[in-house]
Amino acid sequence: MKAVVYEKYGELEDVLELKEVEKPTPKDNEVLVKIHATGINFADFGLVKGKPYLGRLWSGLLKPKNPILGADIAGQVEAVGKNAKQFKPGDEVFGDIGSVGWGGFAEYVSVPENVLALKPVDISFEEAAAIPQATHVVVQGLRDHGQIKSGQKVLINGASGNNGSLAVQVAKSFGAEVTGVCSTRNLEFVKSLGADKVIDYTQEDFTKSGQRYDLIFDIAPSHSISDYKRALNPKGAYIAGGFNSTSLFFGPLISMLGSKKVASYMGSPNIENLEFIKELIETGKVKPAIDKSFQLTEVAEAIQYYKKGAQGKVVIKIV
Ligand SMILES: NC(=O)c1ccc[n+]([C@@H]2O[C@H](COP(=O)([O-])OP(=O)(O)OC[C@H]3O[C@@H](n4cnc5c(N)ncnc54)[C@H](OP(=O)(O)O)[C@@H]3O)[C@@H](O)[C@H]2O)c1
Repeated sequence: MKAVVYEKYGELEDVLELKEVEKPTPKDNEVLVKIHATGINFADFGLVKGKPYLGRLWSGLLKPKNPILGADIAGQVEAVGKNAKQFKPGDEVFGDIGSVGWGGFAEYVSVPENVLALKPVDISFEEAAAIPQATHVVVQGLRDHGQIKSGQKVLINGASGNNGSLAVQVAKSFGAEVTGVCSTRNLEFVKSLGADKVIDYTQEDFTKSGQRYDLIFDIAPSHSISDYKRALNPKGAYIAGGFNSTSLFFGPLISMLGSKKVASYMGSPNIENLEFIKELIETGKVKPAIDKSFQLTEVAEAIQYYKKGAQGKVVIKIV
């Protein structure tokens, strides 16, 4: 099968190579998926470069442990291992395989069945590949950690990208009043996702406007925790979906010392999240937003396009 492989860390265009590699065979608890589309995520860029260096403790000290990247997949089950009971050949599935060895930049992958769910009906494979990892980040951030409720004022900081474009729609589906923060060029896009208000961070600092929110979901940490807390209502919550070292290390302590919650988390794949988003898609409350679709030969270009700031998601169409 064809796959985009990297055997050493380096610049995208230097180390990502399209190669012929052996097609995997499913182990007993696995399903073999013919991948139709795969999504680009934040981690792809850092993993190819091997930066930050600390990350190499997980990704491989001297060379990459997982030579085929790509976490979000959508495709069709081709074969099932003898203990895999959830799917049958022909089923259309989607999921985030980043926790089980990656492998989405390829024509096939074999993965444990417990990271996959049936793909939402009536959306394309590209649309389905656009959301699994963002689903785990957004659903766990807004619903589980943020305890989002109807009628709340919710601000999404970083509303136009990969995670933010989904977060705006999921927050609206809960009945929240949603404010999206992004730069000038993306304001109309964020409005089109359903945001009630938009703020251009190049023109206005929402932490200084005097407006208060019940929940701030932060994809683009860019302020101090005290700034974020100032923009929260007395019992509000600040949830960092993007990397924020202060909330990661001190969030529980800060939360204990006052009435406002501060938290960070790592989104972890589970089927329940995928089924939750499937329902939102099938009832028309969420529509995966795709900025641009690339071919398997263009993975390096796709990751670079994402890094420049896409409107929604960047995907690779494989079949
Ligand atoms: N918690 C987890 O499990 C988990 C998992 C995966 C990724 N992540 C985190 O997610 C983040 C990447 O998210 P993504 O892939 O959605 O990124 P993305 O697609 O690059 O989107 C970034 C968003 O942030 C906005 N932005 C940039 N600078 C800003 C600023 N100063 N103020 C407000 N908004 C700003 C961008 O708007 P413009 O383009 O208009 O500037 C865009 O809407 C990383 O921090 C990563 O660590 C977390």
